[in-house]
Amino acid sequence: MRTIQWDDGRDCIAMVDQTKLPAEYTTYYAETVADLVESIEVLRIRGAPGLGGAGTLGVALAARRNDGDTYDAYEAAVREDADRIATARPTAVNLSREVEAALGELDAATSIAEARERTLTHAKAVCDRDVERNKRLGEHGAALLADDDTVMTHCNAGALATVDWGTALGVVYSAHEADKAVSVIANETRPLNQGARITTVELQEHGVETTLIPDNASGRVMQEGRVDAVVVGADRIVLSGTGEFADGAVFNKIGTYKHAVLADRHDVPFVVAAPRATIDAETSVEDVEIEERDGDELREIYGTQNAPEDVPVYNPAFDPTPMSLVDYVVTEVGVFEPPLDREAVVEDTATPAH
Ligand code: MRU
Repeated sequence: MRTIQWDDGRDCIAMVDQTKLPAEYTTYYAETVADLVESIEVLRIRGAPGLGGAGTLGVALAARRNDGDTYDAYEAAVREDADRIATARPTAVNLSREVEAALGELDAATSIAEARERTLTHAKAVCDRDVERNKRLGEHGAALLADDDTVMTHCNAGALATVDWGTALGVVYSAHEADKAVSVIANETRPLNQGARITTVELQEHGVETTLIPDNASGRVMQEGRVDAVVVGADRIVLSGTGEFADGAVFNKIGTYKHAVLADRHDVPFVVAAPRATIDAETSVEDVEIEERDGDELREIYGTQNAPEDVPVYNPAFDPTPMSLVDYVVTEVGVFEPPLDREAVVEDTATPAH
């Protein structure tokens, strides 16, 4: 099964429940828009392209769960639901972007039945497109890796962060399929441990040699000369900003920035792998909202107290890495060296998904 997909039999969204990994690999069915919004908030579905899938399928779900006496009333109700989905998490641009694109199908429809059909056909095409793009991206990125290279990665940018295949891990999988003996050092990625809980599982399933390290060991591992490249995904790539962000930044899981600094210090290439759907040329670094998550993610660990119940916590989920620290951006149309040329990297959104 894909990470997220439409279940025709149940007429709802099916997704791998990532909150249960690695202990259980189970499917969760989002029957309602409220189910989907909660799934996004608790990271049952996560990762920028995975959230793009949730956004587009979410509009199809809203189109099927709502009704109305007139098309206008129906459309207003679907749009209200779509807004709840689009704003469930703020940083990954793919979520709001795919919701917006799917709403275009509502504009094009003239009846409720047509809106339901169009949004679902569109969502399925967007999901197929994600997989196909990740595979192409992986092949482009694999060319950057040599036989016997060790890649450090942060968080999870694999199949479970996308509809399928992955971005940063897609690069590793493509290299592995091309018979390069690549291995991976996976950062645990506190506080939600996507590296430990998800990345290691995926890599082992693909037969890729994997070593898990605590986040605090990454500097030491670089001092030991054990890392040939750092490869990460992205939640949003922006092309403009001020000061050190003049050429834009890559927003990714908190801790990505410090690994870019470390890579720079140790002369290790820092590679960002992301489909062009993650590039946001309209927003400046300063205007991107960095999600701040609940302090209990630190005060507790898996339900056990980890800190005083009333200790103030600051828990940002993402950080911006200045483009000057990025050596390569790998997309489905090729590998780019920053600063990124807007004309070359921005997707032609006039091209329909299907
Ligand atoms: O909070 P998460 O788990 O959704 O964060 C995910 C990441 O930061 C990924 O690296 C990013 O979305 C790229 S996924 C291909």
